Amino acid sequence: MSFHPIMPYGEGHHRSDRVLLHKGEPFNYTPERAAQLEEICAKYPPERRKSAVLAALYLVQEQQGYLTASALRHVAEFLRITPAEVEDVASYYVMFFKAPVGKYVLQVCRTLSCALAGAERVTESLGEKLGLKVGETDASGMFTLLEFECLGACDRAPVVMVNNEHWHERATPESCARLVDDLRQRGAAALTGCHLHIER
Ligand code: FES
Repeated sequence: MSFHPIMPYGEGHHRSDRVLLHKGEPFNYTPERAAQLEEICAKYPPERRKSAVLAALYLVQEQQGYLTASALRHVAEFLRITPAEVEDVASYYVMFFKAPVGKYVLQVCRTLSCALAGAERVTESLGEKLGLKVGETDASGMFTLLEFECLGACDRAPVVMVNNEHWHERATPESCARLVDDLRQRGAAALTGCHLHIER
C-alpha cells in the first residue's frame, strides 16, 4: 500500500542502498596525529571545530588505511560533533576507503572523456594483469583496482590515479602494465607524478 495518494510507492521505494561501515578495532589517534589534528582545529573558532572533519578523516586513513565505524565515532568525539555528521562527510567523499585496500590503489577514471579515450580497455587490462575485478584487492595486499569519476584532467585522458595522489595520464594497457611492473620492482619510487612531467 502506498503512503502517497497518487504515486504507487511500494516497499522498494523505502529501501536504502546505504552500507554501514564495518565496526573495526577500537580506534584512537596516535599521540602525534592527535596533536596534529588539535593544531588544525586551533585554526578555526572553537564553535567551528567540526571544520576540521576532512583533515580528521584523512588522518584516520593515514593511520589505518581505511575508515571504520569505530574510527568515525572517535573522530566525532574528538571534534565534539555527532557520529552522523562525520558519516555524512565520510560517505560523500570517494577518496575515503570504506574497506581495507592494498598498498597501491589504482583508480581508473571512467567518466566520459576517459571512457572515449579507452579507459575501459585500461581497466580490463589492469584487471587481467593483476587477476582482479574492479573493487578487489590481490592476495598479497599490494594492489587494489577501483574506478573513479572525472579527475579534471580530461585533456590527458585516460587517467589512472594511484593512492589518491599520483596521476598517470594518457594511460594505455601497455603503460599501465609497465606501471604495475615498476611498482612491483621499485615500490613508491615508481610514482613519479607523471602529470607534472607533462605539464612542465
Ligand atoms: S573524464 Fe577522466 S579526467 Fe575527466
